[in-house]
Amino acid sequence: MTAKEKIEALREELHRHNYNYYVLSQPTVSDKEFDEKMRELQDLEEQHPEYYDENSPSVRVGSDINKNFIQVTHKYPMLSLANTYSEEEIADFYERVRKTLNEEFEVCCELKYDGSSISLTYEKGILVRAVTRGDGEKGDDVTTNVKTIRSIPLKLHGKGYPDAFEIRGEILMPWLVFEELNREKERREEPLFANPRNAASGTLKLQNSAVVASRKLDAYLYYLLGDKLPCDGHYENLQEAAGWGFKISPYLKKCSSIEEVFDYIHYWDTERKKLPVATDGIVIKVNSLRQQRNLGFTAKSPRWAIAYKFQAEKACTRLNEVTYQVGRTGAVTPVANLEPVLLAGTVVKRASLHNADIMEGLDLHIGDMVYVEKGGEIIPKITGVDTNAISMLRGEKVRFIERCPECKARLIRIEGEAVHYCPNEAHCPPQIKGKIEHFISRRAMNIEGLGPETVDMFYKLGLVCNSADLYRLTADDIRGLERMGDKSAENIIQGVEKSKEVPFERVIFALGIRFVGETVAKKLARAFSTIDELMGADLETLKNVDEIGEKIAESILKFFSQENNRRIVDQLRNAGVQLQRSKEDAEQYTNKLAGQSIVISGVFNLHSRDEYKEMIEKNGGKNVGSISSKTSFILAGENMGPSKLEKAQKLGIRTLSEEEFLQLLE
Ligand code: IVH
Repeated sequence: MTAKEKIEALREELHRHNYNYYVLSQPTVSDKEFDEKMRELQDLEEQHPEYYDENSPSVRVGSDINKNFIQVTHKYPMLSLANTYSEEEIADFYERVRKTLNEEFEVCCELKYDGSSISLTYEKGILVRAVTRGDGEKGDDVTTNVKTIRSIPLKLHGKGYPDAFEIRGEILMPWLVFEELNREKERREEPLFANPRNAASGTLKLQNSAVVASRKLDAYLYYLLGDKLPCDGHYENLQEAAGWGFKISPYLKKCSSIEEVFDYIHYWDTERKKLPVATDGIVIKVNSLRQQRNLGFTAKSPRWAIAYKFQAEKACTRLNEVTYQVGRTGAVTPVANLEPVLLAGTVVKRASLHNADIMEGLDLHIGDMVYVEKGGEIIPKITGVDTNAISMLRGEKVRFIERCPECKARLIRIEGEAVHYCPNEAHCPPQIKGKIEHFISRRAMNIEGLGPETVDMFYKLGLVCNSADLYRLTADDIRGLERMGDKSAENIIQGVEKSKEVPFERVIFALGIRFVGETVAKKLARAFSTIDELMGADLETLKNVDEIGEKIAESILKFFSQENNRRIVDQLRNAGVQLQRSKEDAEQYTNKLAGQSIVISGVFNLHSRDEYKEMIEKNGGKNVGSISSKTSFILAGENMGPSKLEKAQKLGIRTLSEEEFLQLLE
């Protein structure tokens, strides 16, 4: 490969990684690999200035700009930090600073928090704006979302803060919140967040700030900017800021020798694992602002600071085999089976390979020595192949399977999606068993006495081929089977019987329609009073239900278009399962607003905004955030915003007052 080709290949690859990371929040390589590739590109570009390109990924920092937010230009550009994994380079940095300043200096050592960076502007002690880093020049205005984060003061305490200033920091999702969120996503069969950083940045970009609030984000602030800061010391300024109500890391430490810096690095390399939030390194900053100004900036980063990044915990082991798991929705996941290896305190035997693209990117061969990492992620992942250990007799290349490992159906891949599916929903054993297991689970039909092993046995014996078959079982069928006595048989029959009382919304969830989790099931049960209404709804009607978009609506249509699923519904109906809303529910719900998209705007006197939202939902309508040609009407209180009013008039959308709206519902 010529240098030019190499440069182009690296640029293309880094552009793709940037997109995966910043736009999709789904990175496919480790930070270290990314940094190494970037460095390789920078070196090559330096050697070959003739191939300069203003759009090279090396000349800009990644962009997290999202078209749904207003973009704001940063008053001071948001630069990144030079970073390194080598202690030697930290010593070089220290030496460079010493030589340039040619006087005594102190550095402030701090943890490098691994979240999403944010810039907050305060005027007269009030938070007026919160902007993401974006491309460093301009970012997204996410003020509404940031205001939901409790550790960020909306109004400052004490006095002594400048009239106007900016403070920068990191928005974080604590480990516990992240793990719970992923458990929830797993239950809904949604893609998981790879790490708390992606979860935090993904959350900041949500359009619904109520959901943001529920995600319990946290924030540490670490950089004060402004014309009239109280002190010359960075450390001292942050202590002042703590007094104004900001959350400042309690672990800042001023050091005046490189030995102290290394002590700090070594101490936190292990201690950081006990912290409730993710960190990925240490930042070392020259403390005096005057000295900082003396040192100045390069085009991309300050000369007065550097980041030392910790190595992710990593091990090298043999790849024995790649197997494939088929989930209840037919999604096929490749799994690497490894020679057991100790990693961060646990023995790792398997690692997810996620999907065909990621697997292909790794260029795996059976028998390769592979690197397994457990960085910010909970599931270990394979990050590369030890190319030094590759011999002439390399094993067979791993290629994604074309047929389902269980039922041999030809796999399909939906355009634009990374996942392969087995389309044989009705006859593929793990899909059938998975659906029954989902059906009986606690949050669905909650059938006690049954578990995955029993389901497996019943299925193998031909006693049940779908969830509805459970209602045909008799105690005689079960008695005498392996590990089944009279008592167990009775329990199962009773459990099945009791599930006939489970309310409609949970039955919808139990059906196992792809993308229909508990919340969506609830919304559907509110919008449709019987399963027949739901089965009869067309795409538009479904899309008019709150929280239901094209993807979910299509999945529902597809589910009910399948003969097999309709038969199951019939069987469930005959068995006496709740396929309509209960009487008590029915009294609360109507269809008066079915199919209507309603915008709520302004200030209300008779009920709160939340109460109106609930009324809309209970009457089958959909509350939407912004006015479009699809809006049915606007429930308008006092002081409706002028831009909304103008838009409504332009599109000819009628507005209803509180009184008119209540009359409509009477
Ligand atoms: S100082 C001029 N301090 O690391 C640079 N950054 O590439 C000012 N970060 O974008 C940044 N912890 O998102 C600073 N204690 C800390 C930090 C920190 C995390 C992030 C920040 C920045 C990136 C550096």
